[in-house]
Amino acid sequence: MKGRPRADALVLFGITGDLAYRKLFPALYHLSARRVLDGRPIIGVAGSDLSDDDIRQRARDSVAAAGITDVDQAALTRLLDSLGYVSGNYQDPKTFERLAEHLKGTEHPMFYLAIPPSLFDDVASGLANAGVASGARVVVEKPFGRDLSSAQELNRVLHQYFPEEEIFRIDHYLGKEAVENLLVFRFANTLLEPLWNRRYVASLQITMAESFGIGSRARFYEEAGAIRDVVQNHLLQVVTLVAMEPPVGLGAEALRDERVKVLKAMEPVDPAYVVRGQYRGYRQEQGVAADSDVETFAALRLAIESWRWAGVPFYVRAGKSLAASATEVVAEFRQPPRLLFAPRGAARPHPNHLRFSLGPLQAVSFSLDVKALGEQLVSRSTDFSTNPDAFGAGRAADPYERLLDDALEGDARRFAREDSVEEAWRVVDPVLRHPDPVVPYEPGSWGPPEADRIIEGDDCWHLPAS
Ligand code: BG6
Repeated sequence: MKGRPRADALVLFGITGDLAYRKLFPALYHLSARRVLDGRPIIGVAGSDLSDDDIRQRARDSVAAAGITDVDQAALTRLLDSLGYVSGNYQDPKTFERLAEHLKGTEHPMFYLAIPPSLFDDVASGLANAGVASGARVVVEKPFGRDLSSAQELNRVLHQYFPEEEIFRIDHYLGKEAVENLLVFRFANTLLEPLWNRRYVASLQITMAESFGIGSRARFYEEAGAIRDVVQNHLLQVVTLVAMEPPVGLGAEALRDERVKVLKAMEPVDPAYVVRGQYRGYRQEQGVAADSDVETFAALRLAIESWRWAGVPFYVRAGKSLAASATEVVAEFRQPPRLLFAPRGAARPHPNHLRFSLGPLQAVSFSLDVKALGEQLVSRSTDFSTNPDAFGAGRAADPYERLLDDALEGDARRFAREDSVEEAWRVVDPVLRHPDPVVPYEPGSWGPPEADRIIEGDDCWHLPAS
């Protein structure tokens, strides 16, 4: 919901980190090009002993590395001119006193914590002691905790200094156009809604496949694994958009209320319906323990005990080093009752499918059966692109650009609320506490064959569209 004051300064904790380099500087450049920043001070904070000029150079390098064509030099200069740097230890009150000097004259700074959650307490209390927390907003990166109790503890820590309305928890999947289209497609069309329930939908599958490994992120990944890294947050948020009831309005709380209801109706995951995999070669990656039991793949079956979805399995899988990169949602509809058009010996009609490709391909496709020659049936699909570039509306904003803009504006629609983060941890907690050992899979495959066992009946994992 709008109506909160727009932030008048942006402070980036962890400005020398990977996220700032890969995502935040390019997003800020685009916001500067759109004149959204209006010369607000942007202050980076980190431990490294750097100058303002060093940080400006880093921003310049990041924009150059982001592959932006035709960089608008005036926009870049505006960004660099507003950029400053405070170096210091997060336990040292002087760091926050120096920061407070930079913030003189501002009333509603926004603090972006691109730092490990273990530092939130130091930073939040440092800000409060320096007198800059009141009237401020805080944006926190994922992972928000590592299980239910640590997430509750982080919420407790942040609430000591910031009210819930001013805490913006990032899940960049909520900032993706194609993910948002799930909501638009469902509620802007009457065609789908009457069918979108347990009477007509047999199962749903959500896949997030990545063709690359962990790269240089071993330190982070060894502490996380696929369930903490992407299932608890990105994929469960996608499930909420697929499964939620129509919200009463488009305000932040109306949307977030409906999203959280889906999670509240979700059973804690049954570890018997979870398969954790690890790509061969993971243990040889630099920084990975030789006996690591961290999963780089997870497949799980979720159950939503609501009137709409009871009895409909939601199959979720995510993995690194798979055969392709593709994120998608596939709904499989029930078979027609009597297969009139499948005389004995002929192929059975395929069940209808609705597929939302969420990236890199952005598309929606329906697959339906039609009559071919003679007595044969064939499946045909109607595909349409939902890539915003295809609508000629100009460049689509990157999720971080949208989310930074929203957070500056105080618009919380695309952010996770305290209750949804905790509910999502509640759902995955049983497998985090009692995981079966990981099973190996070949890089470039679709994960371990064991993942097939969590799918019921004659259903199977669908090959993502490319
Ligand atoms: C991040 C995860 O949150 O999302 C990464 O930490 C993952 O492991 C990434 O690769 C995927 O994001 P996207 O936008 O490329 O699908």
